[in-house]
Amino acid sequence: MKQLLEVRELEIEFSDRGAVTNRPLRGVNLTIAPGEILGVVGETGCGKSLTGLAILGLLPNGARQLGTIALDGTLATDTPHGAASLRGKVISLVFQNPGTAFNPVFTIGQQMREVLKRHKAMSRAEARGHILRQLGLVQLPNPERVFGSYPHELSGGMLQRAMIAMALLCEPRLLILDEPTTALDVTVAKKILELILELRGSFGFGVMLISHNLGVVRDICDRVAVLYAGRVIETGTTQDVLASPRHPYTRGLLGALPGPESVGRPLVAIPGSVPSRLLGINGCAFANRCAMAIDECLATDPILQPVAQGHEAACIRSAES
Ligand SMILES: Nc1ncnc2c1ncn2[C@@H]1O[C@H](COP(=O)(O)OP(=O)(O)OP(=O)(O)O)[C@@H](O)[C@H]1O
Ligand SMILES: [Mg+2]
Repeated sequence: MKQLLEVRELEIEFSDRGAVTNRPLRGVNLTIAPGEILGVVGETGCGKSLTGLAILGLLPNGARQLGTIALDGTLATDTPHGAASLRGKVISLVFQNPGTAFNPVFTIGQQMREVLKRHKAMSRAEARGHILRQLGLVQLPNPERVFGSYPHELSGGMLQRAMIAMALLCEPRLLILDEPTTALDVTVAKKILELILELRGSFGFGVMLISHNLGVVRDICDRVAVLYAGRVIETGTTQDVLASPRHPYTRGLLGALPGPESVGRPLVAIPGSVPSRLLGINGCAFANRCAMAIDECLATDPILQPVAQGHEAACIRSAES
């Protein structure tokens, strides 16, 4: 089957006066099939947002990108400019904090109209009608009122729904959601996740759902890619990865997840933190935090290898898990 998105060996480097100062992505590989929801998980700083921004061609100034990003089998992001033209048309992004993603001095309707203006030839009245329909689709009560509201007049949950409506304006094939529920309380978050599932069912777009929360991934993702220090270290169906994780880091993340089985027990944190500068690491980047590490882990950099049908892990001891 042709992949909707195929990211191969994506590397990102930052330099200062010609010298590379950081390499936060060190060869990310991932795919999303049409209509599939892929969860991208990992601790803070592991490269989730940078991966999403690279796909959209929105990397910060000074970032150098290597590797390939293909959409529908066509290389889309050889140049950041090429990717930018796809933004909103083929791919849309929903940011972490809806409160800051909207411009406070324009109404929701004005901001959504701007998006349409850039991508679609529509009269003012047509655009208004289309926007009101989208606001209704994301189950916002009274779309007319939301259209004329300023961001501060809406609650966090309403803003997130409006963000999703805006992202869907140009019928994207791929939606990138960066921590879409982190700023929301639990019940509102649950409703937003249900909405995403429902819209995927109606429109069939693929989703890259970025989250540090495996609970969110468990609820709605078909497959999951676990990122650590700028690499995918485990990937497979959500069922396989969560039921039989093969990388010690994934097991650590699962151990830190609150759930019915952890009531009354202390949560287990993974010792240490993600290395902040990813230069000059020779072996496995997780080795210094890993209870299973042996000498060989410090010397060899493990690559993703199949551990079962459709399930891959980058750990030389994955067979022992
Ligand atoms: N403009 C920049 N210049 C230099 N390094 C950067 C820049 N932006 C990001 N980085 C590096 O990239 C790493 C990954 O950042 P990214 O924002 O992708 O993390 P994340 O996984 O999304 O984390 P979070 O869960 O906190 O959102 C950071 O730790 C930082 O070292
Ligand atoms: Mg982020």
